[in-house]
Amino acid sequence: MPKVGGVSTIVALREPPPETRVALVPDAVASLVRGGHVVVIQAGAGEHAFHTDAAYAAAGARVLSGAELAAALGGADVLTHVRALAVERIQALRPGAVTVGLDAPFDDEARLSVLNARKITALSFERLPRTSRAQAMDVLSSQAFAAGYRAVLEAAIRLPRFFPLAMTAAGTVPPAKVVVLGVGVAGLQAIATARRLGAQVSANDIRPDSAEEVRSVGATFIDVGIGEAAGTGGYARDLEVSAARRQQEALAPHIADADVLITTAAVPGRAAPRLVTAEMVAAMRPGSVVVDLAAASGGNVEGSRPGQDVRVPSARGGGDVVIVGPASAPSDLPADSSRLYAKNVTNVLALLIDEDGSLRLDFADDIVAGMCLTHDGSSR
Ligand code: NAI
Repeated sequence: MPKVGGVSTIVALREPPPETRVALVPDAVASLVRGGHVVVIQAGAGEHAFHTDAAYAAAGARVLSGAELAAALGGADVLTHVRALAVERIQALRPGAVTVGLDAPFDDEARLSVLNARKITALSFERLPRTSRAQAMDVLSSQAFAAGYRAVLEAAIRLPRFFPLAMTAAGTVPPAKVVVLGVGVAGLQAIATARRLGAQVSANDIRPDSAEEVRSVGATFIDVGIGEAAGTGGYARDLEVSAARRQQEALAPHIADADVLITTAAVPGRAAPRLVTAEMVAAMRPGSVVVDLAAASGGNVEGSRPGQDVRVPSARGGGDVVIVGPASAPSDLPADSSRLYAKNVTNVLALLIDEDGSLRLDFADDIVAGMCLTHDGSSR
């Protein structure tokens, strides 16, 4: 096992705007400092996530800026990050340093070549195996959890109606009907949140286990009759064109009857599958709301735009349907998304750091090997 450092210095920097999250929060810093590590936080790194420099300092971090920060970064063992690192940040690291964070897009050759030229060991959360042991390190899950919750609130605030059945002296209001497409971590959390708000929820996914998962959280499964579409590693696979068309036809009446549609479908390494056409959106009642959590990765819904509300006239007349395309839904809950992210980071660090405080990369460990994007000058 290659040994890559002594007592570890762990750094988190300000993320590039518009990112609001931060890779380490004060609680995470405190646990690392208790473990004997030096933690360096760039001044202001937690500003947009409501984690103050004073809180980081109280947790034992060295809060630095300017030349002091540059020197600390140059000597760092581990740089933790949320967004893929800019080339200048990679160039500031010493050869052999480790980075832990999100690294998409993976086709950024300039970044990969600098990681290799600098002999950086880049560990990517996108490559973490989906195993029980890895669950506590799973950033995709923790952030999808936040996204699923947030998607429902985005819809609820825009919907001109209540979510719950309301029985008042002024009359009875029926509950909102919510359809969720894609029932992974985000979709399940969207169902749970919509149910807590009192909506009637139905959902569809193409993974074989999804029908049971949907029912277990109290929603109705929409069976589109296309059989099993399991890929590898518990993920879905791309549907054949004919199956995708059948799925759209089967979903169309459910969507036309929904007040809220939330889409979360993804196939790893591919653009998001297009599940909903412009025609299906226009068939919804005026005032209905669509939230496309895949808007930034190709879009499940035709016409969605990341970071924008797009208004589409309802074919029924009387007003628009609004399509909400969150650019990064977890970044809209930066305090808690960062808290979960930082816990995932410290759980990975616990795997990388020996009892004596030195960094040790065990490539026989499926988590370390799986996450490794670059090491010792070559891409994995
Ligand atoms: P994801 O973000 O890759 O995709 C979201 C959902 O979209 C998935 O459920 C997928 O089946 C669905 N989807 C893809 N194409 C679709 C289509 N054409 N129509 C309808 N739905 C479509 O998924 P996520 O949330 O990352 O979870 C993927 C799987 O991994 C799930 O089975 C989940 O339970 C499992 N998982 C396992 C973990 C572990 O054991 N450590 C941690 C997190 C998830």
